[in-house]
Amino acid sequence: MENNILTNKDYTCTKRFNAEMAHIFSNCWTFCGLVEDLQENNRYLTVVAGLTSLVVLRDEQGELKAFHNFCRHRGMKLLDGQGRLSAKITCPYHDWTYDQSGNLKSLPKAKQEFEGLNKACLSLKRASVGIWRGMVWVHPDPNAVPVQQYFSGMGSHVAPYDVEALVEAKEALYEVTINANWKLVAENYIDHYHLAQLHAGTLHMYDHKKAEFGFVDEHVFFWEPLAQAYYENIDQHSPYPLLIDKNDKKMGAWVPLLFPNVGLAESESSWSVFHIMPLSVDQTKVVVRSKVKNCSSMAFIKQATKSYTFWTSRVKAKSSQHEQSHALGSGDFMQEDIFVCEQLQQSLSNPRFEFGPSAKGGERLIRGFQQRVNAKLTQGGFNVR
Ligand SMILES: [Fe+2]
Repeated sequence: MENNILTNKDYTCTKRFNAEMAHIFSNCWTFCGLVEDLQENNRYLTVVAGLTSLVVLRDEQGELKAFHNFCRHRGMKLLDGQGRLSAKITCPYHDWTYDQSGNLKSLPKAKQEFEGLNKACLSLKRASVGIWRGMVWVHPDPNAVPVQQYFSGMGSHVAPYDVEALVEAKEALYEVTINANWKLVAENYIDHYHLAQLHAGTLHMYDHKKAEFGFVDEHVFFWEPLAQAYYENIDQHSPYPLLIDKNDKKMGAWVPLLFPNVGLAESESSWSVFHIMPLSVDQTKVVVRSKVKNCSSMAFIKQATKSYTFWTSRVKAKSSQHEQSHALGSGDFMQEDIFVCEQLQQSLSNPRFEFGPSAKGGERLIRGFQQRVNAKLTQGGFNVR
């Protein structure tokens, strides 16, 4: 019988959560946006990565740069959110001013207040930045392994799409705060065992029995083909224009989890990034951004019209006893997953609950993920038991 590697307190203990922030999230490649977000020069965006706050910018020459987002004087954050960048970055607290390369250029009353000051020692701290698969990634360590190298093993486990050529479906932007530990959300994302059960009415377009999955380094790869009933008339059934030739044997859904917290969902007609952001030990924010084929809105309307009957007749709620306002009556797989994660989190705080046996095949990825999380914590010097 297989057992879970983690136990209740690993999902409810603040000390453990703080260790994960320090040893995992402050020390990994973090997704911070799509390349489109920084297409123009003089744009920036900010991101929190564990205990660190980072700013990624495209400077006036078009070069991507990343810095730690704090003034070298007292630690005030220099920039918020995202937006346009001026030639100079000025800390609002005492007006210490940096150029776009992070060099400290000026500060008020420098001569009288800071005698003998060496400004060269007070540049902004560098971080690493890179682009992979149409996404901008940042790492707090300026000497991190390049992002392309970090994901090199995943090249054959993602869809054969040029992600940068797709266009964002801005109306599909989805943001939710889930009352559950981030690991439950990640584990649910890679749980093959639940797909045919919880999502019997919502994810029947894929043939879960034929799923192929495993690990490449720390990352999860996952692929499954279309179910026969959906595939046999895919021109009619697909909700959006197809991204792949219908005769391509690999047509299906690629659903990797990039360690530790970024899921991709690359299907026959859409591409999504599922960003899992820990907020506290029992709260997690998820942001989903989606892209589709770059074609006319008429092509989308035509495809939606053709597929309307398939989707309205085949998608079913998990339970007919629940109202549509209830997750189990919603017929929406995201609602189903969120509901489950929140219920699990509650049980994990219950001293009378402990995990039962773990499915040998269908929950193999979950145990592998738990081992990798623990390995990172151990490397960082945290005692996982
Ligand atoms: Fe699910």
